[in-house]
Amino acid sequence: MKIGVCTGGGDCPGLNAAIMAIVKSAHKLGHEIIGIRDSLTGLLTDPIKTRVLALEDVDDILTRGGTILGTDNSGNPYKDLKTRDLRVATTKKNFEQLGLDCLIVIGGEGTQGIAAMLSKEGLPIIGIPKTIDNDLPQTERTIGFDSAVNTVRDATEKLQSTAESHDRIMVLEVMGRDSGHIALHGGLAGGAHVILIPEIPFQLEAIKKVIKSRSERNIHYSVIIVAEGAFENSLTPLEQARKQKNEGLPSIGHYVAKILNEATKMETRVTVLGHIQRGGSPTSTDRIFATRLGSEAVKLACEKQFGVYLGQQDGGLSAIPYSQLNIGSRRKIDLHDENLIAAERIGICLGR
Ligand code: F6P
Repeated sequence: MKIGVCTGGGDCPGLNAAIMAIVKSAHKLGHEIIGIRDSLTGLLTDPIKTRVLALEDVDDILTRGGTILGTDNSGNPYKDLKTRDLRVATTKKNFEQLGLDCLIVIGGEGTQGIAAMLSKEGLPIIGIPKTIDNDLPQTERTIGFDSAVNTVRDATEKLQSTAESHDRIMVLEVMGRDSGHIALHGGLAGGAHVILIPEIPFQLEAIKKVIKSRSERNIHYSVIIVAEGAFENSLTPLEQARKQKNEGLPSIGHYVAKILNEATKMETRVTVLGHIQRGGSPTSTDRIFATRLGSEAVKLACEKQFGVYLGQQDGGLSAIPYSQLNIGSRRKIDLHDENLIAAERIGICLGR
């Protein structure tokens, strides 16, 4: 077989581990792997952007961050109504020209949505979920999440010592779009005192209370994790964004720091972790998960099981037909989530 592989959307640690697993398992069975460059955009350009992936190309990439295939956020052939028919036809024509038997698409919500549509058009596709946000539907885990959590854990720990030395409130803003998975897991692992997530609109009073109670115990510092999509309970996310803009504050982390400084008179500092969460070498968990997904995708390709997306369900991998995938829905933290409950049981304030 000739199997194509591409990575789409924002990069994350673990993409190369998945590529390695695909190439190694395919080569072992005598199949050829063609890497499509820069997401599905690589199938739209003239000339087509590809590279043959030999075993030696992937020999040392398991531990490397990013993606050797490059990625792109804009390779959506369906984006523009006027050009979509032409772009979809070009994608299909180039797919055929390359002589591909199938395409493994490693991507997040946007890329999997495109993959689902192309699969409906008849292209043989197998999807692999990745995003640091861990918010894809019908999978308990995505490639990149564990590595991002580890980065947040590390930053949280580092902020503890400087916060304690200076008796400060340290606000750490983390990624996750409108889900709080990274914030909750990173905060739990790093020992944050307050974790604000979009699933629980926060109340200033609740945060003040926990800071006060720490002061009464002679602990004069706090580390507060704020998910980028968090918002105050009196506002909608849109109103929150508007209020920040009006006050000249670049993000929610700065907003939380400002209102806490005003309310407690304590010195407050902000760290916006940003794209550091998407960089670096993947954790062991991400390397192993990506290896399982990559090798399973090749197995499915050999069985000609196309039009599916590989999700982790109850710990095992399931091939979920794209037709059954809730495309466009983002998995949020369930309010009965055991990690969330444990956080509150040990006294971490979740802003309520
Ligand atoms: O979806 C992954 C993610 O890192 C989000 O957490 C974040 O909001 C967004 O991508 C950042 O995107 P960009 O790389 O386009 O700035």
